Amino acid sequence: MKITIFGTGYVGLVTGTCFAEVGNDVVCVDVDADKIERLNKGEVPIYEPGLEELVDRNRKAGRLRFTTDAKAGVEHGLFQFIAVGTPPDEDGSADLQYVLAVAGTIAEHMSDYKVVVDKSTVPVGTADKVRARIAEVLAKRGASLEFDVVSNPEFLKEGAAVNDFMKPDRIIVGTDNPRTTELLRALYAPFNRNHDRLIDMDIRSAELTKYAANAMLATKISFMNELANLADRLGADIEHVRIGIGSDPRIGYSFIYPGCGYGGSCFPKDVQALARTASEVGYDAQLLQSVEDVNLRQKEVLFAKIKQHFGDLAGRRIALWGLAFKPETDDMREAASRRLMEALWEAGATVAAFDPEAMEEASRIYGKRADLQLCSSAEQALEGADALAIVTEWSVFRSPDFAGMKQRLKQPVIFDGRNLYDPDRLAAQGFHYYAIGRPV
Ligand code: UGA
Repeated sequence: MKITIFGTGYVGLVTGTCFAEVGNDVVCVDVDADKIERLNKGEVPIYEPGLEELVDRNRKAGRLRFTTDAKAGVEHGLFQFIAVGTPPDEDGSADLQYVLAVAGTIAEHMSDYKVVVDKSTVPVGTADKVRARIAEVLAKRGASLEFDVVSNPEFLKEGAAVNDFMKPDRIIVGTDNPRTTELLRALYAPFNRNHDRLIDMDIRSAELTKYAANAMLATKISFMNELANLADRLGADIEHVRIGIGSDPRIGYSFIYPGCGYGGSCFPKDVQALARTASEVGYDAQLLQSVEDVNLRQKEVLFAKIKQHFGDLAGRRIALWGLAFKPETDDMREAASRRLMEALWEAGATVAAFDPEAMEEASRIYGKRADLQLCSSAEQALEGADALAIVTEWSVFRSPDFAGMKQRLKQPVIFDGRNLYDPDRLAAQGFHYYAIGRPV
């Protein structure tokens, strides 16, 4: 099938590549000429396990092409996917200008029936706006062409996006026209394993499903972070509590890991956008607002522990393990590391940071500054530091050489924002070990 994807960001690139992988003819369009040039040379601008190999294979097979030529893109695909960004506005609502600009472009250049698919995470009601924009531009052209608009939200996790796309739990398709459901069913047939994973519904419900999924997951995390803070004050161990409650299948073990706050490009943005949508329709979404507030507060917890241990932080050097918002990505959007580093700098401390993938990203964001040393290894970061802080649970941080660590650090102090180690073992080795919601 012929598919066009607008936007070669994380979602667009994974979507386009995976559709090509199962034999479709895919054209990816982006306004960023540099990015398109790099992709045409086989360079993948983001770190996502397995993606580069897949892009390479499909590009060479001629099934995956990249262009800035929007007109050619519109002419190519029966399916026109919109996968451009929806950054938050100042008030937390999603900014739809890029989505609607693509809708306008499609309408300007189309000459036959198109299925326009919203893949970006967009507020409920966006499909109506996309439809209205296309109709408006077509009317201006004096063209009477048929098209359908579909909501088909993505549920990809960064770091596991290729696998999530190739083996989805569910494929949500929101349509108001049965013919489109059938077209989408055919398009997604290669990804239906064992049983039919396509769930069709009306467009607004599909749009809301995406926000509901992310808000539910964010709620689980904020709930556990709140409990962890309580455990801290009560002398209980949240890790026992986590295992205790996770054993109830109604609760489950996933997404109940306490930590130093959720980050990334999705949870913070989507929870805010959903709260904003609620207030627009006159509903005070108290739980959603609290999920967000608890998370903002959680990003301060590790700093508060560091401050409490040292008192004055001026002139202190803190080793930081982890910059990315989670393992297996170089993405630092809304990462807990950023708030921690900024708080440390404000207090006059310096940071020696290491991350297995996000070093370039950190230098792009912060540039050269005297109070940030970007280290080439986890060990180097420890050298001469007053303490180690951990904010990302990369597997390489899970079983370090504690004896070597003690030699490198000026003081054997660890602030662990991800509860990676056994407190008793570390205490036995002479460490001051601070975790989240665990007795010191
Ligand atoms: C999230 C969802 O998991 C995807 O289903 C969704 O498609 C995606 O957003 C999106 O909307 O595009 P992602 O942001 O890649 O995916 O990351 P997650 O693995 O969900 O982690 C989000 C944050 O929550 C991370 O900072 C992670 O450290 C934190 N987290 C996660 C916890 O603090 N505790 C947990 O138990 C789980």
